[in-house]
Amino acid sequence: MRSLIDILDFSVEEIDGLINTACDMIESPEKYSDCCRGKKIATLFFEPSTRTRLSFEAAMIELGGSAIGFSDAKNSSTVKGETVADTARVVSCYADIIAMRHPQEGAPLVASLNASIPVINAGDGGHAHPTQTLADLLTIYREKGRFDNLTVGFCGDLKYGRPVHSLIHALSRYTGVKIVLISPDELALPEYIKRDVIEKHGMPYYETTSLDEAIPELDVLYMTRVQGERFDDPEEYFRLKDCYVLDPEKLKNAKSDMIILHPLPRVDEITVDVDSDPRACYFKQVFNGKIMRKSLILKLLKEAEENPVAAKRPTRMLSSNACTNSRCICKTERGLIPQAVETDEGLRCAFCESRIDG
Ligand code: CP
Repeated sequence: MRSLIDILDFSVEEIDGLINTACDMIESPEKYSDCCRGKKIATLFFEPSTRTRLSFEAAMIELGGSAIGFSDAKNSSTVKGETVADTARVVSCYADIIAMRHPQEGAPLVASLNASIPVINAGDGGHAHPTQTLADLLTIYREKGRFDNLTVGFCGDLKYGRPVHSLIHALSRYTGVKIVLISPDELALPEYIKRDVIEKHGMPYYETTSLDEAIPELDVLYMTRVQGERFDDPEEYFRLKDCYVLDPEKLKNAKSDMIILHPLPRVDEITVDVDSDPRACYFKQVFNGKIMRKSLILKLLKEAEENPVAAKRPTRMLSSNACTNSRCICKTERGLIPQAVETDEGLRCAFCESRIDG
């Protein structure tokens, strides 16, 4: 049985397969309208969402199945102290597949280790958002026709923007992709992604604070919201929240076939008068997200039927304070033994991927 916790859980060939199925679903939706008859998705959202939760539910309904779940942890037994592990075991008795969003990094992985059904990471803290990446990839494919030889600019909150982290991982497997990181110093991409993903794969990249300087060379501009909910200091958030605003004036210097992506929700970082520009693709991205989630649900349910045993990840036990990430699920989940995975770059927390020193 497979889950999707990180975009790298799927090979490039598997992502191609998801895209092919998605394109067929767009062409011939009726072929898929009964594929999941009798199946249920449980959407367990411990953090707010509009697109991800509703698109998972719409996806399952369009496949002939149904949806159960909660959209607020306050309406679940989490408030009584139930762990993520127990929640996953319980929901496995009610549904065929889980989509989980959680503010703590690694929570969907903990769920997958305890559930007897596939688990999809629908966003964990500032860590990863692999199904947003599937939406992004289908949009790039449909608009640009390729992933190779693109210059992709990421602009705004690159520190906490989990869609940015997952998309950079995904793009690292294609050839000729150049990355431009546009952010204030305070919101720069985490070092581990620069070093262990971009530099490790030999991707050309540079960092700049100037969107104006970078925009002329971009094929894809990925705008992001400054993630106020992840700041410890509200004053810092108010100082940084409007650091970049994309408007028609700025777009005058962009290529005529550049595409503008944004995972949404947007606040003020793209003015509404950009929406009518043919380069604005962020609402197409929303539609593509639903289609890729349909394709994903179908793949994971099929694989679960063929092989119902969950794959184990090799890990090493750690002392309780070895992970220093305060947002990691290992800090709050009762009974969870801290563990590490060995990577080429050393030990990493098995749940949130932060580096383990010593
Ligand atoms: N892009 C995205 O994850 O949106 P939601 O937070 O509304 O799900």
